[in-house]
Amino acid sequence: MTAKNGENWSKQRLIVGISGASGVVLGIRLLEALAELETESHLVMSKAAEMTIGYETPLTPRDVRAKAAHTYAIGDIAAPLASGSFKTAGMIVAPCSVKTMAEIATGVTSSLLTRAADVTLKERRPLVLVVRETPLHLGHLRSLTQLAEIGAIILPPVPAFYAEPHSLSDMVDQMVGRMLDVFGYNWPQVRRWGEDLAKGRRGNAKAGPRQERP
Ligand SMILES: Cc1cc2nc3c(=O)[nH]c(=O)nc-3n(C[C@H](O)[C@H](O)[C@H](O)COP(=O)(O)O)c2cc1C
Repeated sequence: MTAKNGENWSKQRLIVGISGASGVVLGIRLLEALAELETESHLVMSKAAEMTIGYETPLTPRDVRAKAAHTYAIGDIAAPLASGSFKTAGMIVAPCSVKTMAEIATGVTSSLLTRAADVTLKERRPLVLVVRETPLHLGHLRSLTQLAEIGAIILPPVPAFYAEPHSLSDMVDQMVGRMLDVFGYNWPQVRRWGEDLAKGRRGNAKAGPRQERP
């Protein structure tokens, strides 16, 4: 955010989309992580996301917006995010509903969230989709294939049990950290195999008893 000529802006700006799938805490924690990492977050939330925030957290949509550097209305298709000329490092949709996923897969975008995702793809910037639904039918799987083919990174919110989580918040942080890994961040909350975990144990015939976390 320092360079007046804008050189560093694209590295320090990230678009965050929160859609109405379960797991809105992932997008919320992502906003907190980006603030810690001094990255400018640009948030767009769907109407269903606002509803899900009410069901799954003690927060209001206004509380969530307050965690972002910039926020936009879901219908504001004239917002900067709607244009590729607005430089960003990319976009994370966390969580991503199957409705939002399908819109992005087809390119038939009806909101600023899905338009921003489409722009991210057309500009060949990283687009991470934290798709949350289970079980998946063949139509969902076909959309995911289409998305992978056009360059999206599909990163479902799957817990890393090897990271020895002690709480839901540990799991959320590990998932958020793995999203940030895509953009080259090294968020300290992530527990890494061979670094924080299992150091020196690889190659043993038996893993041995699990060690307690400090
Ligand atoms: C509490 C709650 C949890 C939901 N969980 C999911 C989910 O995990 N995955 C999903 O695709 N949709 C889920 N939905 C349904 C979506 O919110 C709904 O399909 C909505 O139309 C998605 O719109 P959006 O993609 O514009 O946010 C959930 C809805 C609610 C209220």
